[in-house]
Amino acid sequence: MRVVVLTGAGISAESGLATFRDAGGLWEGFAVEDVATPEGFARDPDTVLAFYDARRRAAASAVPNPAHDALVALERELGEDLLVVTQNVDDLHERAGSRRLLHMHGELARARCTACGLVTAWHADLRPRPACPSCGRRALRPDVVWFGEVPYGLDTIEDAVRGCDVFAAVGTSGAVYPAAGLGATAAAFGARTVELNLAPSLPAVPFDDVRVGPATAVVPAWVDEIVRGGTPGLAG
Ligand code: APR
Repeated sequence: MRVVVLTGAGISAESGLATFRDAGGLWEGFAVEDVATPEGFARDPDTVLAFYDARRRAAASAVPNPAHDALVALERELGEDLLVVTQNVDDLHERAGSRRLLHMHGELARARCTACGLVTAWHADLRPRPACPSCGRRALRPDVVWFGEVPYGLDTIEDAVRGCDVFAAVGTSGAVYPAAGLGATAAAFGARTVELNLAPSLPAVPFDDVRVGPATAVVPAWVDEIVRGGTPGLAG
């Protein structure tokens, strides 16, 4: 059974990391166009770098929660038949042990040089404008996909979604494309679809099954169903 799991900020909420659109979320304190667009970066790089430095530090001090751990257990069960596609830029999936993982919106723990193109692991602040380890110029930016930029791995994601038997969306509002359209694609290609969320989203194409609750409760329960050999994604 081939499974694709799309995760959003809600899977990291119980690890203490802010989501974007919930009350008190990141987009309450910051305007997207100021901190999550190439234009915002060109206009005021210090503000953008400080925004991501704060998020990188918050992610580094957070720990994976039982929802991340459950997806690792699912990977032990399914191996190559599982792909976790995350919109999140934190590294909690990796630190929990996920390997079958694709960060479609990039990663806080990577930097990209706007001068020479180097992409490298990065854990320090970028606001002080450290020199690029390759070309030496002070031109590093977070390797995070901003609005108006092309997400990573779209071909791999599309192939996996079209070929899966079960598609699960965990902790995502479905507000941002192309991630928000993946459930409809999976359904169109015959997959069972399930949403696991604290509050159901309102997708263009309804999910076959909706599990409402905190990710740390509903994700382990759903994975247990699969591991016990049930047919996941069925109602009830
Ligand atoms: N358990 C499960 N789901 C939760 C929890 C929780 N404890 N807390 C919040 N949620 C759900 C909310 O109900 C909501 O559906 O997480 C979702 C958070 O939605 P957003 O804040 O919009 O985050 P996300 O869907 O990941 O945003 C997608 O938008 O701004 C861009 O690039 C950014 O990757 C991000 C994308």
